Amino acid sequence: MDICVVGTGYVGLVTGTCFAEKGNKVCCVDIDEERVAKLKGGVCPIYEPGLGELIEKNVRAGRLSFSTDIKDGLDGTQLCFIAVGTPPADDGRADLAQVLAAVDGIASALTHSCRIVVKSTVPVGTGTLLCRRIKNHLRERGMEKIDLEVLSNPEFLKEGMAIEDCLHPDRVVIGAASEEARAVMRELYLPFADESRIIFMDPASAEITKYAANTMLAARISFMNEIAQLCDRVGADVLSVKRGMASDRRIGEFFLDAGCGYGGSCFPKDVQALCCIGEAQGLDMTMASAVGKVNRKQKQQLHMMMRVRFGAEMEGLTAAIMGLSFKPRTDDMREAPSRTLIHGLLNCGASVRAYDPIAMAEAKKLLPSVVKYAPDVETLLSGADCAAIVTEWQEFKDADWQRLGALMKRKIVFDGRNICDPCRMRSLGFEYYCIGRNMTPKGRG
Ligand code: UDX
Repeated sequence: MDICVVGTGYVGLVTGTCFAEKGNKVCCVDIDEERVAKLKGGVCPIYEPGLGELIEKNVRAGRLSFSTDIKDGLDGTQLCFIAVGTPPADDGRADLAQVLAAVDGIASALTHSCRIVVKSTVPVGTGTLLCRRIKNHLRERGMEKIDLEVLSNPEFLKEGMAIEDCLHPDRVVIGAASEEARAVMRELYLPFADESRIIFMDPASAEITKYAANTMLAARISFMNEIAQLCDRVGADVLSVKRGMASDRRIGEFFLDAGCGYGGSCFPKDVQALCCIGEAQGLDMTMASAVGKVNRKQKQQLHMMMRVRFGAEMEGLTAAIMGLSFKPRTDDMREAPSRTLIHGLLNCGASVRAYDPIAMAEAKKLLPSVVKYAPDVETLLSGADCAAIVTEWQEFKDADWQRLGALMKRKIVFDGRNICDPCRMRSLGFEYYCIGRNMTPKGRG
């Protein structure tokens, strides 16, 4: 198939490349000239394991190309995917400016019938709105004969696992009204997923599915974070509770890890946007808003623990931050819990030193300039008063704490991801604190 993908951000680039990998001819279009130039020069502009190699392979095979001109992308295409960003506006709603600009570009260049597929996460009803908007443009151009349908095909890619998720999806959700459109999408996705895993529905349901799925996953995390708080109060262990719960097949084991809160480009934004969508319909959205509220509080947890432990000593303290990205295998710092912690520490007068295997370049753009960066864990911990594990990178899971402890000024660790073995840490002489395991500081400061 001939496919155009508008937007070479994370979703567009991964999706377009994977379509090409399955033998389709794909043109990825972006207005960002620098980005397109990079891609044409074989440079992958984002960090995602395996993506650079896959782009190179498909460009070489002549199946994947890049352009800043939407006309190149639309030339002969049957399907045009929209995969531009929908960042949160000030009021929490999804900002559709980039989506609208993309469809306006398409509408002004389209010369043949085409199906527009929305991959961007958009509020319910956006498909209908876009269809009307494009048809108006076409009418103005005297091209109302062009047959047009707007479909919804939300993405469920996890950063760091995006290629795998895209090539082998759990399911593909497609919101399409016509049987013809469904047939085209079925043909496109059959090389990726079993027929039984391609789920067809109306576009509005597909649009809600994306928000509902992400909010459900975020809810599981917030729920466990609340249970972790309770465990700390009553002397229970959230890991045991998780094991006991997860063995019920109806509950399952995924997304039940308590920690220092969820971040990233999707969960916080989608939970908030779902609240806005429901509230606009006169609903309270009690559950969804509680999910966001619990998470905002949880992101303060490490800082609160440090304040209890150090009290007035916070000023002048050197805190070593292990991990900056919102999760491992990505350099994405959006809504990362590390940011909440670092701001809290700086406000209390502490000195902050940080290390992340991948995200430091990104962090330097976003964090206050007083934050210092270490080239490795050893340098990070040398002379530090305490360490805070914020991202569960494998490198930190494998850390040799005996060696690292000897470098620290004080052997105090706050483990925001529960990755260390408390018994071992204690046997090595560490003062060790973590989340929901009855190991919180009791105000020694
Ligand atoms: C998420 C969805 O999983 C994906 O389907 C959607 O398309 C985009 O949003 P992503 O944001 O890449 O993907 O990350 P994910 O792996 O889902 O983790 C989100 C956050 O939740 C991270 O901050 C992670 O640390 C946190 N998390 C995850 C927990 O705190 N506990 C868990 O048990 C799982």
